Amino acid sequence: MSDEYHQLLDAAIQHLEGLKARGVRFVPVQPEHLAALAGAPRPVASRPAMATAVAAAPKPSERAAPAGALFSVPVEPVVVLPALSPEAKAAAFEDLRARAMVCVKCPNLASSRKNVVFGVGSIDAELMFVGEAPGADEDEQGEPFVGKAGQLLTKIIQTMGLQRGQVYIGNILKCRPDTPGESAGNRKPTPAEMQTCIPYLHEQIDLIRPKVLVALGGTAVEGLLGKTVGITKLRGQWQTYRNIPLMPTYHPAYLLRNQALSEKRRVWEDMLSVMEKLNMPISEKQRSFFLRA
Ligand code: URA
Repeated sequence: MSDEYHQLLDAAIQHLEGLKARGVRFVPVQPEHLAALAGAPRPVASRPAMATAVAAAPKPSERAAPAGALFSVPVEPVVVLPALSPEAKAAAFEDLRARAMVCVKCPNLASSRKNVVFGVGSIDAELMFVGEAPGADEDEQGEPFVGKAGQLLTKIIQTMGLQRGQVYIGNILKCRPDTPGESAGNRKPTPAEMQTCIPYLHEQIDLIRPKVLVALGGTAVEGLLGKTVGITKLRGQWQTYRNIPLMPTYHPAYLLRNQALSEKRRVWEDMLSVMEKLNMPISEKQRSFFLRA
């Protein structure tokens, strides 16, 4: 191999080491680039791009968008790099937080927010909940799920036998969607806002590496999976986000609006599935919650 080849190889390795040090866990690689690096013949043109992906935390622009998706989503398959040391993981997470806390990519949200709501909980959590976006209470306090819906989520977590600090809670958006001219109320994030903000969430998940994800409501499913199928159809059915089992369920705000026992039971059954997936102990009492007497 020529000196030029080795120089290029060294530069590529250096670049990847830099990404890894900053917490990036995945990098998309085109098969023909891998083949060129290995000095092998180029793969046939019909081979799907992205068939080989090592360590992929592709930029949003590099993620493939399935037909009908509002925006692009992660590419499978992926080969996951070895885990970072606890120190490197904590440092990468802090670096990510620092970047998110000063983000001004959505100028309207940056100027209307009181706080960036980065996320809360254990960065070693096996279970991660993902919601839509901060509301007024979350914006005020800088912590996700602290308002009425958040209190219900905390109750659900506790009923599972866990504490809030044992799981990780994040959102698709880190800023409260602005509602200019209105003193109250929330609005759904726009596709552009979701596409702009979601790389932070992808990085959070890549670093935390939860064993199970719970997507709370349709926006969370849309953001993580690119699926615009209604939450009513998807809830209760295991999905996969980059090799991580993902359970879609109703948003707690929906349960506040619809107090029917049957809806509570549906969400609870989703949580029982999550507990089973995590091999958590489940008591008979827990199994029978929200069943009619
Ligand atoms: N609803 C969400 O989706 N996220 C929050 O943080 C609060 C309410």
